[in-house]
Amino acid sequence: MSAAIGVFDSGLGGLTVVRELRKRFPAHSICYLGDTARVPYGTKSARTVERYALRCQEFLLKQDVGLLMVACNTASANALPAMVASSPVPVIGAVEPGALTALAASRSKRIAVLGTLGTIRSGAYEAAIRKQDESAHVVGMACPLFVPLAEEGWGHTDIAEAIADRYLSELFAGEPDVDTLVLGCTHYPLLRDVIAKVCKARAPLPVTIVDSAAAMADQAAGYLSAAAGQTQAPLRCFVTDASRMDELAPRFLGEALEAPEMVDL
Ligand code: DGL
Repeated sequence: MSAAIGVFDSGLGGLTVVRELRKRFPAHSICYLGDTARVPYGTKSARTVERYALRCQEFLLKQDVGLLMVACNTASANALPAMVASSPVPVIGAVEPGALTALAASRSKRIAVLGTLGTIRSGAYEAAIRKQDESAHVVGMACPLFVPLAEEGWGHTDIAEAIADRYLSELFAGEPDVDTLVLGCTHYPLLRDVIAKVCKARAPLPVTIVDSAAAMADQAAGYLSAAAGQTQAPLRCFVTDASRMDELAPRFLGEALEAPEMVDL
């Protein structure tokens, strides 16, 4: 595929997926859209999320992308069927890659998914995992406070650890056999170290953490060439609101982002 990869998220968290893609497929240019005027999606109804996601998809398709990646778990969980049905190019969501990776990693087949309220309420991870293995047991835990912690750059602080401890203590008290934890939100990789530390302290079994950003990049490999280019192909970034871009974007991307372009959807 030679056209650009279109990546979409409710905000800037999807830049964690862009970061993986740029590392692994440097020859492919990327067109990113962050719907920063409407973020968060995680607290909104499934219908609203679907409506927003379809608008974003329409915009990216107009940029002539050859592959669409829905780097937002909430949008993937609530809008993927509608997006696939109306897209002429392949669409990769966040849920299926994360679900398959988790299933492959789990020995106990007891898997926990951390996500926004919208993702957990949708039951999408559970459906994707149980479609592959009916005997698997999936427990979802909404962790709404993780998103603002990641955005504030507080992912490595004592406060993040205390909040993770609160969520995960409850999780492991009810589900002591969980051995695999899916970071089912684009923001959560920024709290990965803290989550791993709390798992070590609270989980009865050793826990494998699955990052849906990395799992999405694995799935994209089927469409992309990993050939290393001499130079990194361009990243074009669009946002629906430019507030705090300079401060927030590097936290997710791991490097500064060239001036994003504003769009009105
Ligand atoms: N991008 C969202 C997700 O991955 C998190 C932020 C939001 O609530 O919009 O679920």
